[in-house]
Amino acid sequence: MKVIVGITGTTGAIFGIRILEILKNINEVETHVILSGWGRKTLTTETNYTAEEVERLADFTYAITDLGARISSGSFRVDAMIIAPCSMKTLASIRMGLADNLISRAADVILKERKKLILLARETPLNTIHLENMLALSQMGTVILPPVPAFYNQPQTVGDIINHIAYRTIDQLGIILPELKRWDGLKES
Ligand SMILES: Cc1cc2nc3c(=O)[nH]c(=O)nc-3n(C[C@H](O)[C@H](O)[C@H](O)COP(=O)(O)O)c2cc1C
Repeated sequence: MKVIVGITGTTGAIFGIRILEILKNINEVETHVILSGWGRKTLTTETNYTAEEVERLADFTYAITDLGARISSGSFRVDAMIIAPCSMKTLASIRMGLADNLISRAADVILKERKKLILLARETPLNTIHLENMLALSQMGTVILPPVPAFYNQPQTVGDIINHIAYRTIDQLGIILPELKRWDGLKES
């Protein structure tokens, strides 16, 4: 399975990093990573990783400006694209089909080729533009997966919360991770 991972400039770069770390250990997955300019800045602001360390987690890496990259064309077959985290700016540009950098172009290609697009759209609170853009993309089949914590699985650490969101994202690819704690109904007390 070939998966593109985009990291854009919203808070929450750690979600994209954790997803790449997990996918690196799954043999059948080949990852292609793109960091936006602001994605590079937020990840070095928020984590102890360098952009180069994050890029090394992937099998292939591309410059955000490289619109000539193979993932810029639908003739190069990929199965899915995850943007984690996804800024409201990138969300808007995908919705409008701007394709003005390699993240929004690759997402545009994913949509036209009817492949799976998963957006960890991150902003709070949301304005009407954000909500309209999410609705339009959802109606085109995009999975809008805001990185919102769950508490039913009783997370003990921030790492538990990050992992749960990363596992739920990877679950969307149809990859079954035993680590994902699934809701199994209320237990009698
Ligand atoms: C530290 C930091 C945190 C940010 N957090 C968010 C955010 O949560 N959501 C968002 O949509 N934009 C956020 N932004 C603004 C984006 O970086 C900005 O809109 C940028 O143009 C996004 O470009 P990109 O999508 O190409 O990475 C943040 C910027 C900085 C510097």
